[in-house]
Amino acid sequence: MIRVSAPGKLFIAGEYAVVETGQPAVLVAVDRYLTVELQPATGEGRLISDQYGRLPVLWRRAGSRLVLDTDQRPFDYVLEAISAVESYATESGHPLGYYDLTISSELDDMSGRKFGLGSSAAVTAATVQALDRFYDLGLSRLELLKLAYLATMRVNANGSGGDLAASMFGGWIAYTAFDRAWVADNRERMSTVEMVRSEWPGLSVRAITPPSALQLIVGWTGVPASTMSLVSSVQDRKSTTNSHYGEFLSQSRACVEELVAAFEADDAVVAQRQIRQARRLLQRLSAESELVIETPALRLLCDSAGRAGGAAKSSGAGGGDCGIVLIDTGIDVRPMLREWELNDIRHLAIGVHPAER
Ligand code: PMV
Ligand code: MG
Repeated sequence: MIRVSAPGKLFIAGEYAVVETGQPAVLVAVDRYLTVELQPATGEGRLISDQYGRLPVLWRRAGSRLVLDTDQRPFDYVLEAISAVESYATESGHPLGYYDLTISSELDDMSGRKFGLGSSAAVTAATVQALDRFYDLGLSRLELLKLAYLATMRVNANGSGGDLAASMFGGWIAYTAFDRAWVADNRERMSTVEMVRSEWPGLSVRAITPPSALQLIVGWTGVPASTMSLVSSVQDRKSTTNSHYGEFLSQSRACVEELVAAFEADDAVVAQRQIRQARRLLQRLSAESELVIETPALRLLCDSAGRAGGAAKSSGAGGGDCGIVLIDTGIDVRPMLREWELNDIRHLAIGVHPAER
């Protein structure tokens, strides 16, 4: 049996800007996991997931396509991941087989609510890695990341891929976004093997280390607005608010680059200043695009962290979900956590998943 656990992720800075080619973001992989177990099978395969009830979904192959016995949508990412890896396997001369995939997740709570820790990215990353082993493809992390994105774009083409990179590489990463239009165009004319071996314009993933004096604290404020629809609202409005948007992009780039430099210099003061700056940039974007990124609960989380001496901001698309705090390890955070609790903000006791290899 093959077993792969992929970590969830949190955005630290650079959200929204990073959907544009070459824009940087900082993310961290967290120690909550989505696990895929692959068991070789014969004649038919099963998809089993604790997220969608206990019933297995049966699938078969019709020519080069996978067909589900019932039309169960939640498995879209898994099916696209299978399809991407199997087209790579076929093109490189590996015979296809059957297998059961069992998916279990810590990225939701008992009632199935998501914490915004990137379950779609994690399930895609874990499935791609499990199949890389099953077919013995020996792909590098960067190649696995590309396959994971080729799968993801079939379900949602407006994500930056930063979440996949965090899930695939682990640790803290400085990520820059590849040109998605380039990928979409070339996908039509290149084979999967060629796509995976090509250099993707703009793409880079680099491991970084946060200042040693700081710890990461995460609060969860509740059910978010959909990341997909928040990102499309910003994209829809960017031409009408053009000058603002251009300015947002350049300020976000400067902010994230200085944050990364502060990490490299082990400079806690500058790192915290950049986190606060990233918060302001998102607040401005939110006002200009007339959408709510920092909800009242997220504002309370951030202000409370600020009073305790930390630097905080919303994480990811916002509209709910998580806020992140970088705060000195020497500070007693209990008063802050008590204030969160009184306001229904749940402290997620999570740590960092270490960088892979
Ligand atoms: O809400 P999350 O944690 O999935 O983050 C979304 C971050 C965005 O930059 C807004 C979109 C993206 O795909 O990078
Ligand atoms: Mg989110």
